[in-house]
Amino acid sequence: MVDLSVDIGGLIIKTPVMTASGTCGYGEELVDFMNIPDLGALVVKGTTLEPRQGNDYPRMTETASGLLNSIGLQNKGVHYFHDELYPRIEHLNDHIIVNVSGSRIEDYVSVCEILSDLTKCTAVEVNISCPNIKEGGIAFGTSCSEAAKVTKEVRKVWKKHMMVKLSPNVTHIAEIAKAVEDEGADSVSLVNTFLAMAIDAQSRKPILSTITGGLSGPAIKPIALNMVWQVYQAVKIPVIGMGGIMNAKDAIEFILAGATAIQVGTATFIDPASCIKVIRGIEEYCNEQGVKNVRELIGGLII
Ligand code: SIN
Repeated sequence: MVDLSVDIGGLIIKTPVMTASGTCGYGEELVDFMNIPDLGALVVKGTTLEPRQGNDYPRMTETASGLLNSIGLQNKGVHYFHDELYPRIEHLNDHIIVNVSGSRIEDYVSVCEILSDLTKCTAVEVNISCPNIKEGGIAFGTSCSEAAKVTKEVRKVWKKHMMVKLSPNVTHIAEIAKAVEDEGADSVSLVNTFLAMAIDAQSRKPILSTITGGLSGPAIKPIALNMVWQVYQAVKIPVIGMGGIMNAKDAIEFILAGATAIQVGTATFIDPASCIKVIRGIEEYCNEQGVKNVRELIGGLII
């Protein structure tokens, strides 16, 4: 038996595989495809203080090896999550991680305060990297001082695990990671999507209503891998890797680059059982390689 459990800054999770926010709603859609408790954590959709309609359609389009989205954080707001959704999903996993987004620092703080009493909500993923909203989001994640400010304020009210989700749309992602580590982040997750666009040559118009969006999927994997490796070398807190992970081999590459755990996102749209297949594949790899404990692989890149 391979021990697949990992410790992300004091939070022990049974496998190193999580869903990526926004790719599985609140987990209920995945129930027919996998045993959700086998996931290390269920990371649910971006949640804001007030309900949001999201951006106008079209807001998703497929690109070569990628998916471009500009959803705009559509969600029913934190009170709806707290009162209606959480009671429906709390049995799904012992670690329900809520991705928290906002336009103002006070929004992040309020959302975290409201989530504080939810027992299974053992962590928040502070999203300072959404590229699809006019105010806030990525604006907090592209400056060390802004990233530090959000982290510092959330830290004051959120006593459980605080993961901060980083944007790849920066020159030196390791500096942003260090800035949030210095203000008390327990882990960092990276990368969110890359700013990108798609154009319809026939109409000569952008495909997305917002003109630009965020690119995910296999197209970004090698860049994400490099960023995970850069951040792993720069910080002491655990790194949660993501960006185009389609299978167990991809996941292992991220773990070797320094990720303690990984998130599977775009792959779930192709195969809703992707997460569980990644877990089984990591187990097979460990068996083949004589690895008793997946933790042995973290940062195990041989140079
Ligand atoms: C969105 O809702 O626009 C995507 C969320 C994100 O990229 O953080």
